[in-house]
Amino acid sequence: ESAEKGGYEHFMLKEIHEQPKAVQDTIGAYVHEGAIDFSETGLSDEIFAGLKRVYIVACGSAYHVGIAGRYVMESLAGIPVEVDLASEFRYRDPILEPDSLVVVISQSGETADSLAALRLAKEKGHPVLGVVNVVGSSIARESDYILYTYAGPEISVATTKAYSTQLIAMYLLAVQAAKIKGKIDDERYAGLLAEMGTLPEKIQKTLDDKERIQWFASKYANAKDIFFIGRGIDYAISMEGSLKMKEISYIHSEAYAAGELKHGTISLVEDGILVVGVLTQSALFEKTLSNMVEVKSRGAYLMGLTTYGNYNIEDTADFSVYVPKTDEYFTTSLAIVPLQLMGYYVSVAKGLDVDKPRNLAKSVTVE
Ligand code: G6P
Repeated sequence: ESAEKGGYEHFMLKEIHEQPKAVQDTIGAYVHEGAIDFSETGLSDEIFAGLKRVYIVACGSAYHVGIAGRYVMESLAGIPVEVDLASEFRYRDPILEPDSLVVVISQSGETADSLAALRLAKEKGHPVLGVVNVVGSSIARESDYILYTYAGPEISVATTKAYSTQLIAMYLLAVQAAKIKGKIDDERYAGLLAEMGTLPEKIQKTLDDKERIQWFASKYANAKDIFFIGRGIDYAISMEGSLKMKEISYIHSEAYAAGELKHGTISLVEDGILVVGVLTQSALFEKTLSNMVEVKSRGAYLMGLTTYGNYNIEDTADFSVYVPKTDEYFTTSLAIVPLQLMGYYVSVAKGLDVDKPRNLAKSVTVE
């Protein structure tokens, strides 16, 4: 097993470091000579041209990919997107409109609820696109269209590299839909693809800063509660950051839409509690910052996660983490990396079984 870990202490750390390659491989599978080529998936230009609505269905981290994907697809391609937890979708008798596509995201392709959601959509006569990592899995076999992610085998229960490749799948779908629907011109299309191509090296740059995160994680390893706050895409990032933290470190953590804090959660903020503010979206920066000021005045200790250049975060945050700038639609791919590392290092500091957290399974094939 130690050989399989390639010199890393845990599979999770190895897989975190494999993200530049996994992202590169997934982009490389579908972007050829400066254009998206979906021929391998079965998706045609006609499908995108006629697409009126997208329903994304998934569980766990794949659901968080769906939330991030919704912001990108709605804003870039102008297509309304609904995102559902598969376990909810399958029992709520969903109304699926014509000319819609159901997108089921799953690393394993075997998650029971996601598979049941797929079958329900098909029963209702709706085409399903599977975004799947494991070749030949049930969801891959039963989907009408299949967009494989190229993360390679993922061993650690807490997903990292598969999540990152699923994000790329969402970006590619959004950019392609935007182009075919005439929402972006050729220049913007080329610019987005070029920017996507820089993500592997920018993820690598983020990984190179890991010692600072390790230091901070060891300081907060005994925290009882952690809150993650953000708006828009930053809320989607917060959800995944919070899940990474709780699943492997056993620290209670929650993600909140920053604007919702004042409707209840702020009553939980007390002296010394750690609040992580995610601020990668320039239009929402000041809004989330003001929420951070609110929790700070109630005694919270603040970590701010933003992009290089936003150094005024240091006037408010007690500890700041920066990721490289990219197109704001793609920031999830970079900002998630320090949060994965933070969950990992807290778990290690507590001496927990990082790769096999208690009560959790890599692939949940029962309801
Ligand atoms: C489990 C895993 C998660 C994963 C979820 C959905 O809970 O621990 O990492 O996000 O299942 O799995 P899937 O294989 O459908 O992506």
